[in-house]
Amino acid sequence: LAKVEIKLSEIPEGKSFTFKWRGKPLFIRHRTSEEISKERAVSVSELRDPQADDERVQKPEWLVLIGVCTHLGCVPIANAGDYGGYYCPCHGSHYDNSGRIRKGPAPLNLEVPPYEFMDESTLIVG
Ligand code: FES
Repeated sequence: LAKVEIKLSEIPEGKSFTFKWRGKPLFIRHRTSEEISKERAVSVSELRDPQADDERVQKPEWLVLIGVCTHLGCVPIANAGDYGGYYCPCHGSHYDNSGRIRKGPAPLNLEVPPYEFMDESTLIVG
């Protein structure tokens, strides 16, 4: 019920695509190796909502997020902001390439929904 199937081959490396899941925007990002290394190198103790990158992804190249800002619920913009991940224009929250809040008023990281890889190229969210 309310599951969505994503064909991963449609999302090129370096891009974030938006889908819909349970009426909410769903961001799926195909991370590059540079993006992965950068997020893994972030010191967790500096974060407002401390979470290591590997706690937020199942496979390093695929970032799966609910596209709802944890401040007041606007939809952030991909590949924008000071940390290269997502930027919420409503009040200026900057998220990194792991969906973690880095600057601005949002209190929490972008939510990671439940998901599983059905095979190498198919992701099921929900
Ligand atoms: Fe995103 Fe306020 S709703 S910064």
